[in-house]
This record gives sequence, C-alpha cells and structure tokens, in this order.
Amino acid sequence: MTATTPDTDTPQTDARPLAFPPGFVWGAATAAYQIEGAARDDGRGPSIWDTFSRVPGKVAGGDTGDVACDHYHRFRDDIGLMAGLGLPAYRFSVAWPRVQPDGSGPVNPRGIGFYDRLVDEVLQAGITPYATLYHWDLPQALEDRGGWTARDTALRFADYTGIVHDRLADRVDTWTTVNEPWVAAYLGYAAGVHAPGRTSAADAFRAAHHLLVAHGLATRRLRDGGARRVSLTLNLAPIVAGGTSEQDAAAADLVDAMLNRQFLDPVLHGAYAEPVLAVAARHGGLDHVRGDDLTVIAEPIDSLGINYYNPTYVAAAPGTPPNPAYPGCAGIAFPPAVPPLTAMGWPIVPDGLGDLLVRLSRDYPGVPLVVTENGAAFDDVPDADGRVRDDARIRYLDGHLRAAHAALTAGADLRGYLVWSLLDNFEWAEGYGKRFGIVYVDYADGRRLPKDSARWFRDVIARNGLGG
Ligand code: NOJ
Repeated sequence: MTATTPDTDTPQTDARPLAFPPGFVWGAATAAYQIEGAARDDGRGPSIWDTFSRVPGKVAGGDTGDVACDHYHRFRDDIGLMAGLGLPAYRFSVAWPRVQPDGSGPVNPRGIGFYDRLVDEVLQAGITPYATLYHWDLPQALEDRGGWTARDTALRFADYTGIVHDRLADRVDTWTTVNEPWVAAYLGYAAGVHAPGRTSAADAFRAAHHLLVAHGLATRRLRDGGARRVSLTLNLAPIVAGGTSEQDAAAADLVDAMLNRQFLDPVLHGAYAEPVLAVAARHGGLDHVRGDDLTVIAEPIDSLGINYYNPTYVAAAPGTPPNPAYPGCAGIAFPPAVPPLTAMGWPIVPDGLGDLLVRLSRDYPGVPLVVTENGAAFDDVPDADGRVRDDARIRYLDGHLRAAHAALTAGADLRGYLVWSLLDNFEWAEGYGKRFGIVYVDYADGRRLPKDSARWFRDVIARNGLGG
C-alpha cells in the first residue's frame, strides 16, 4: 500500500481493481443508544447506559446519549443520506427500553412505532433493513433485578424479541439477536468500563452465559415466528503471540479461548471450550450453566456477524495479574499497540481480518460470514468549505476490503460487509470525541457532512468492488 499524498482528490491506495462476488451485501451500521438521542421521548425508559454515563468519570467529557445525533428526530434525513450513498443495506438496533420501558410487561406503542416508521422509510429508500435486537442498552429496571447475571433477563429478552419480531416481521428478513456479548459481559461486568460498571469476575462469567442463552432463546422465538434469517454478531480478533515460546503460545491460546471460542464454540459446536470452563469454575462456579442450555445456545443460525477492528497481541508474563477484561487469566501481558494506529489507539492490521475470516471458515465451516462492523476513528475536521478529507479512513477501509477479498479467494464464505459507522456517534466510554462515521456530525447544530470516505464507499458499492 502506498502512502497518501496530501491534498490529492483521490487518496492513493493499492491500484489493483478487485471485484466482489455478485450479490455481495454492502451497507453501514449504527446502534440505537449511539445515535438516537431522545432519551426521554415518547415513553422510553432508562437504560443502563443512561445510568452509567451519568456516573462521574465513566464517560469522557461527561458525555451521555441524551441527544447523540438526534437520529430519533432526523431519521428521515439520515435515510435520505444513505440513499444518496447508494447503500443497499442498513444495520440498526432496536432500543429495548423504548419498546418495553421496564424491560418486561406492557409494550410502549410509541416506542415500537418509531421502528415501524424507520423500517418503512428504509424500505421506501430501497434499502434492506438488518435489525439488531440488543446493542447494550439493557433496561435499567432489569439491571436492578440482576441484569445479565440473572437468568431471568434472558427470558425477558426472548419476550421482547417476540414483540419486536411480531411487529416488524412482515418487513424485516434479517435479525441479529445480540451484538458483541463479550464486550457486554466482560467490559460491563468484569472491567467495569462499560455499563453497568460492575467489577466481578463471577458476574462476568454468568453474564456471558446468560447473553448466550438469550441469543438461543431469541433465535427459537424468531424461528417460531417464521423469521427468514437469524444471526449473532461477535467481536472477534486473531490473537497474536509476541514470542515463539510455549508459554507465549499458551497465553495466546487462553486469550483466544476467552475472547473468541467462548462464544463461537457453544453457538457453532454446542460446547464450551475447556479452558473457559476451567477459568469460570474457579470464579464463582458453573451452577448457572443448566440443563439443556447448550442445546438452546446451539440453535442453528443462518449467518455469523463479525465485528473486526484489530488483532489482540499477547505475551507470557509470569507474575502479571489478570487484565481486568480477562478475569482469571494471570501471567499474560497485553503489550502496547505498535503504529500505525487509529484515534482509538488501535493498531491498523488489515490482514488480521483476512486471517480471521479464513480461520472461521476452516474451524466453523457451514456458516456464512458477514462483516457486520469494520471501520476506524480518526480526528476528522471539516475544511472551511465543509469537506472532510478523511484519507486515512479510506486507506483503512480499502486495506480491509482487500484483505476480505483475499480471504474470499482463499475460500472464506463471506457474504457481506457493513462499515462502522454511518454517522459519527456516541463512542461509549469515549463519548463523542472519537469519530467513526463516514458522515461527519456537527454536534453543535446536528449538521451532517458526508466525508470523502462516504463518496469513496459509494463508488465501491456502485462497482461492487475496488477500482484501479
Ligand atoms: C463495536 C460496537 O458494536 C460499536 O458499538 C462500537 O462503536 C464499535 N465497536 C467501535 O468501538
């Protein structure tokens, strides 16, 4: 890949044209709490992120999702933007606390009505809606009853799934149950850097299991209702050992078990990886794993969603206490990332995506793959004329698409690619300071400015590939 010369209109990327297979799905993704705002409108109940973002010091700048991109009020314009970019697919999430303000019981008609209008508008624009049912905004009332550490939350999730599906099934074909259960469980319940901000290893293991049970129960509910396509989205990463010793390899294997196989194995192979059971057994026990849970979790899915940002680097480091996000995994260091980095400080390694896709198709054959998120935050600033020259993002996306294409050529069953994200938005603990959008959002007045990457992506979609 060649370096970009500043001030050229088209950033130089690898020049080879690449065509993706016919029918390859292109699109962009968002999530409710990150873009909607309108946190108190039309009967929406509080979620764990409303609560958590108000705890001093938890979110950069004290930011909250109260207003966000105000998408709740501007969704028609935002869909117009998507249509202008020629996006064939749009992945959004439904906010559980809009639909059931307390997480159970009566449906809030105005809350579900929003998604009714959203889906109509998306379809009218000729865009295929991909609905995600849980993207981290758990109703606070359920957290007050134990949150994801309580099995009951999984049962409530299945009910909520049924409500949303019954209302939208005539127009939405593709359903994702849960987004990134590892993040929800381990950053939320062990490291405490995401909502609900708990720091208990035992809670995190229970939460992870119940999120998987929730996925399985919701999948059954969707199937019973006649859903055409059901999927689960995982945050996955190649785990790269810093050295070649046996200890380094063991460290990488354990982190791979915790981050990747903890979710892949039960869903796609019907069993937990041994190291996961061993670590969980030492931290609170396994009494939350009951009866036919593994059968429920292994309910067949139609595709696997992959959110890829970067590999995870590890090295054996005897005596090191566990990283807070990897409870029970002592003796492992996570070395600082090496440039080039995004504004999140994440290393830019396109081949990591290719390696991951090839590995998934090899180790878990038979399930089609969709990249449901890939993208990067950079410190974008509009020019005086309102143009955002985000060449670094174009290079990032171009590189990852080339890696995805190489994986396809190597036999990976990849069906689609959705960029994260359509809009700059509330980047969880990082607040609004980190901009992942292909469309810039001016939070002072709500203005949207498609970045250069948006126009570049429009061309990629139009030619179903990368130009020369
Ligand atoms: C994955 C999450 O699903 C999304 O909500 C988040 O903004 C991106 N990663 C970037 O961190």
